[in-house]
Amino acid sequence: MKKVLVTGGTGYIGSHTVVELLNAGREVIIIDNFSNSKPEVLEKIKQITGKDVKFYNIDYLNREEVEKVFEENEIESVINFAGYKAVGESVKEPLKYYHNNVSGAIILLETMQKYNVKKFIFSSSATVYGAQGNGKCVETMKRGETTNPYGTTKSMIEKILEDMYLADNSWNIAILRYFNPVGAHESGLIGEDPQGIPNNLMPFIMKVANKEIPQLNIFGNDYKETEDGTCARDFIHVVDLAIGHIKMLEKLDKENSGIFVYNLGTGKPYTVQQMVDTFIKVNNIDVPYKYAERRDGDLPVLYSDPTKAKQELGWVATRTLEDMCRDSWNYVLKGKWVNEKCFNCIKRLKNWRDWKISNYINQIFKRKWIWHYTCFRRKRRRIIKKSR
Ligand code: UFG
Repeated sequence: MKKVLVTGGTGYIGSHTVVELLNAGREVIIIDNFSNSKPEVLEKIKQITGKDVKFYNIDYLNREEVEKVFEENEIESVINFAGYKAVGESVKEPLKYYHNNVSGAIILLETMQKYNVKKFIFSSSATVYGAQGNGKCVETMKRGETTNPYGTTKSMIEKILEDMYLADNSWNIAILRYFNPVGAHESGLIGEDPQGIPNNLMPFIMKVANKEIPQLNIFGNDYKETEDGTCARDFIHVVDLAIGHIKMLEKLDKENSGIFVYNLGTGKPYTVQQMVDTFIKVNNIDVPYKYAERRDGDLPVLYSDPTKAKQELGWVATRTLEDMCRDSWNYVLKGKWVNEKCFNCIKRLKNWRDWKISNYINQIFKRKWIWHYTCFRRKRRRIIKKSR
């Protein structure tokens, strides 16, 4: 069977897309260097889908290794998620961003050209629209001024793809402009896992709710353009976004060639305040917050016109703001608590037969007992099942 190569396939959007590709019966090969993800994601993908994925731990800047992947597999299409995405970091280290994102894409495209693979989906971003009009973004609008090197890399790669298609119109290219992806797979096994202090709203809310950060700053509550004065964004559930890629691939399968641009968003902006309130309500958990100064470079309102994707791909985002908030928190509960925080606890419980109640009670009082308790019960259930 012809295969889909997914670069950055263990990352946040990549891993959800791989799950949907496998569910749709596609054969998938991932390349990733775990620069912003963890190897255990591969195991989780298998747990969710029951299917295997061929994996290469390589950096897509390494031309020789990328070529080897094309040499060893019959690749038919490529989805490129690999790339750095932290806006603030890109301002401090522009070369790192231009090198990784732009050079990486060029190496990938050159390799595709060499092996005559011409079906390509690129993860772009709404950031390429810049500040235009009232914040509603339509694909017919020109790319705007980007405000940071990360955004500029997206804009540059879009331009490179256009030029490439002009030079050789046998390419079959899709540019997908994502709005604000949030949420996680409903299993709670994969989701967004930012390292350190996150920049984006949802991971920040998750860390505050999980008491890793004391409070959320809402940047600006005096924007005239919105009802409650906080910024508005087009938050989209990551599973809806992932399904958008499947629809896109189906369209490319039907087309012989072309270059296609689509917004992937819900078309419904929600404010930061609405997002925080919904998270608190749906999950029945406290998220302490305060209003702070506006953040430099923030646009008051940014949302998609999703009409083109609906008409041409038959794709519509169906998951609600409540789903996004519930699934994000579910990932913290099911994923992080058990797998990271209780890692030592799990290791200790491998010898649970020797385990002494006194040790356990000590742990209860040293750490947050509920994590260890949940962890212990699961581990015990698994061991008992095995020994039967
Ligand atoms: N916000 C807060 N507090 C925080 C973090 C964010 O109030 O701690 C606010 C921001 O000020 C903004 C909104 O939440 O008003 C959304 O901010 P994010 O950082 O989550 O997202 P952005 O809309 O700024 O940017 C995101 C991605 C970019 C992408 C862009 C496309 O981070 O990569 O969407 O629209 F380019």
